[in-house]
Amino acid sequence: MPFWSKTVAAPQWIDTWFKDRTPRFLRLLPAVEPQTPKGLTPPVRLTIDDVGPLSAFWTTNYGGDDWYMDAQPAWVSTYLNDPAVIVLGAYDGACLVATIVSTPFSSAATELSNGGMLPFGSLRVIEGLCLAKQWRSRGVAGYMIGMMDCWTSSKLPVAHLWARETSSAPLMSTALRTDTYAMLRTKDAVETIGCSKMDWLQFTHLWHMSVGSWNLEDGEWKKPPCIFSKKPVNRSGAIDVWMVKQRPDMPTGLRQVVVVLDSRRRTIPGDERIFEVIWCGFLIGSKLRPALALTQRTGSFEFSPFLESIAANYKDAVLFASSGAMGGGANSKWGKPWRYGCSGAHSWYMYNYMPPAFGSCEIMAIRDEI
Ligand SMILES: CC(C)(COP(=O)(O)OP(=O)(O)OC[C@H]1O[C@@H](n2cnc3c(N)ncnc32)[C@H](O)[C@@H]1OP(=O)(O)O)[C@@H](O)C(=O)NCCC(=O)NCCS
Repeated sequence: MPFWSKTVAAPQWIDTWFKDRTPRFLRLLPAVEPQTPKGLTPPVRLTIDDVGPLSAFWTTNYGGDDWYMDAQPAWVSTYLNDPAVIVLGAYDGACLVATIVSTPFSSAATELSNGGMLPFGSLRVIEGLCLAKQWRSRGVAGYMIGMMDCWTSSKLPVAHLWARETSSAPLMSTALRTDTYAMLRTKDAVETIGCSKMDWLQFTHLWHMSVGSWNLEDGEWKKPPCIFSKKPVNRSGAIDVWMVKQRPDMPTGLRQVVVVLDSRRRTIPGDERIFEVIWCGFLIGSKLRPALALTQRTGSFEFSPFLESIAANYKDAVLFASSGAMGGGANSKWGKPWRYGCSGAHSWYMYNYMPPAFGSCEIMAIRDEI
């Protein structure tokens, strides 16, 4: 069942050619319910009572050739217990065979550089899309997305972001941005720059005090096309904030800050935990600034030595960075211990809303991901 190509709420390739980025929903009416594929029951909203089967389903089915999801019940329950999160599951008889999750993008409002402002809950992220192996390539993914679209748009229009991983960057697409991954094994990393962990409450306070200024221009900062979450989410404590210890060769009052997420994914073989860099920036005085702030000023800034130092603090793990500024600005010049361009690409898409840009839109959010 084709979904993305058949809905008026998904930007089409032609939209990338026109310059009109006025913030607006692309469809104001509720979505039409798609037809349920034969053999499947229409999805129901899962509750905390379903934590056992859902954890088992994701651990068995959520993954690829070289990774699986370590979906521990304690982590899964943080989604099922949150009334703002919608988890849908479809059954084949008594067996759970398909899931999809719609999670608020931010725990407060979201601001867009094209002037858009989406209140809490009206920008959401599609994640947790997972089908039992025997149900794949039969259009059920499109059906589940269509059902979530119906579920979330029944009262008010809602926008969604969704991510896709591909083996290489798509050539022509409506992606907001596409980043190429780089990865290292943490056992190969050395802590050459002293790192310290920042307290989560201190970080959220700094984010709160700083995020508003990222959507304003000043002499030192040219705002990029961007979607900013006004408030970080750390629903299961899986997010670490690292700060560089002050070094003599760094300008006074400027310290690198990097946010790392435990993705709950694990490698096959090896069973190593997979961590991901989700935000890079600086603490300048008492304000956070995205990594781009210094790139704009100096042309480039090399995050890899600090990322390697952070990686050395995680045992039996791999760390993913990416080519985007938020992912550390990885590139083909990153030598050992990094492997650049061997782990595919990650793209973000927007649904039912006009984004500030296609191809070059920054997404600044601190949040867990399924
Ligand atoms: C991802 C998965 C659900 C796709 O199932 P599938 O039946 O093979 O789906 P298809 O590749 O035929 O794609 C069907 C539709 O779903 C869309 N789709 C597939 N994966 C998607 C994703 N992660 N997000 C949004 N849409 C997706 C496709 O674009 C396609 O849309 P179209 O019909 O409009 O063209 C399935 O491979 C799976 O369960 N994988 C394990 C879990 C996983 O990796 N989830 C994605 C995390 S990024």
